[in-house]
Amino acid sequence: MKKAGLKRGEKVLFGVAISFVLFAFVAFVGMENYRIHSGKKMYAATSHYDFSPEGLSGSSRFRDLGCSNCHRAVRNGTNNGVSLDGVGSRRSFGYLEAFLRDPEATYRTHTMEHGIAKGADYVARLPERDLHSLAVFLSELKAVQGSPDARLPMEGHSGFIDKMTEAWAPPAWKSQYHDIRQERTPQPTPQLTPVP
Ligand code: HEC
Repeated sequence: MKKAGLKRGEKVLFGVAISFVLFAFVAFVGMENYRIHSGKKMYAATSHYDFSPEGLSGSSRFRDLGCSNCHRAVRNGTNNGVSLDGVGSRRSFGYLEAFLRDPEATYRTHTMEHGIAKGADYVARLPERDLHSLAVFLSELKAVQGSPDARLPMEGHSGFIDKMTEAWAPPAWKSQYHDIRQERTPQPTPQLTPVP
């Protein structure tokens, strides 16, 4: 019996499919090769931590007590809730401990999950020892200055930010709030000039 060869159309389709696969393979090898040899990181790491012994035990409590069901911290947890990476650069230890113990009073408004009869209401009832080590752990999650999780903006003086605050911030804000950039140490940043 004569062996049935591929029809012309089938050969074309097959050729197209093979060339996609080949292209993907060559591109992958090329990109991996570049990534490994250039030494560049695909995503710059903007959070860091250096745990004390208590911070370390807080980190395992964080996992065991179900915090990572809603929060992300140190490559653990989910992305569907609030990420706590870098929270130690935004919030003080005092704030974190107060939040865990008494969330809505500390937030000064209703919370989505930490309030009474909500998903994370158990947190406020945890033993003192857990609350303390959790707060230590969280306060040790730091972010690089200027990254989205950090409290302070990028180092160096930005004329752009000056212009924007001059143009857009209502005058009342300037007496009500202070310029966060002045918290930087050691060199002070220029004062905001009031809008005439
Ligand atoms: C059911 C989901 C859920 C669980 C479980 C949960 N959280 Fe939260 N957490 C949230 C949400 C949502 C917020 C934002 C505030 C709000 O609206 O509740 C939050 C806020 C926080 C904040 C305040 C962050 C800030 O910058 O103000 C801290 C700290 C925190 N959680 C720690 C924890 C710890 C520690 C645990 C475990 C013991 C935990 N959470 C368990 C959902 C959860």
